[in-house]
Amino acid sequence: MSTRILVVYYSATGNTASLAEALAKGALDTGAEVRLRTVAETAPPEAIATNPRWQSYVDAGPRADLATLDDLEWADGIAAGTPTRFGGPASQLKSFLDTTGGLWAKGKLADKVATSFTTASTAHGGLESTILAINNIFYHWGAIVVPLGYNAKHLLESGNPYGGSWVSRKSAEPDDVALEALRLQGVRLATITGHIAAGLRA
Ligand SMILES: Cc1cc2nc3c(=O)[nH]c(=O)nc-3n(C[C@H](O)[C@H](O)[C@H](O)COP(=O)(O)O)c2cc1C
Repeated sequence: MSTRILVVYYSATGNTASLAEALAKGALDTGAEVRLRTVAETAPPEAIATNPRWQSYVDAGPRADLATLDDLEWADGIAAGTPTRFGGPASQLKSFLDTTGGLWAKGKLADKVATSFTTASTAHGGLESTILAINNIFYHWGAIVVPLGYNAKHLLESGNPYGGSWVSRKSAEPDDVALEALRLQGVRLATITGHIAAGLRA
C-alpha cells in the first residue's frame, strides 16, 4: 500500500499555493499518493476587493479541490500551509481545522505524521509563530510533528528549520531556493510517514 499524503492550504494571492505545489511534488517524487487540497474562501467580497492581487486570485478560481474531512482521515501524513496573518494562521485554514473535532474524538487523527509551512511579507513578521500555531493543533490530535530541520545541505541556505517558508517582501512570488526547500519538506514528510505508516499497519 502506498503512503498517503494530504497537502492542505489556504492562499489569498498565490504564494502559499506555490509552496504547497512544491511540497506535493516532493512527496510525489518518493512514490507517495498525494492529494493537494485548498480550503474555502470565507472573506467577504468587499475585503477581497481592497486588494487587486487577492481579487484576481479569487477570480482565477481555485488551484485545487476543497479539502474534506475524508481527505484528513484518508491521509497517513498531512502538510498544512497558510499565509501569516498578524503572526498566526489565516482563519480560512483554521476554520477547516476547527471542523475536525468529530475525527479527533474518535481518535482518527492520532498517529498521523504532520508538518506545516507558511509565507509572510517580512522575515521577522511571524513565520515561526504561524508554524508553531498550526503545530499546536497537530499536538492536540496526537499527531507526530515533523519539522523541516537542516537535514539537507540546501536547507542551510534556504532554511527555516520549523517548516518551509517564504518571505514575500513587496509581493514577490516564491523563488527556486524556497520552492526546493518545500520540495525537500515533501520528501521528508512522505519518507518518514512511509516508515511510520508501515509500522502501524504491520
Ligand atoms: C490581513 C493580513 C495580515 C498579514 N499579516 C502579516 C504578518 O503578520 N506578518 C508578515 O510578515 N506578513 C503579513 N501579511 C503578508 C502575507 O502573509 C504575505 O503577503 C503572504 O506571502 C501572502 O501569501 P498568499 O499569497 O499565499 O496569500 C499579512 C497580509 C494580510 C493581507
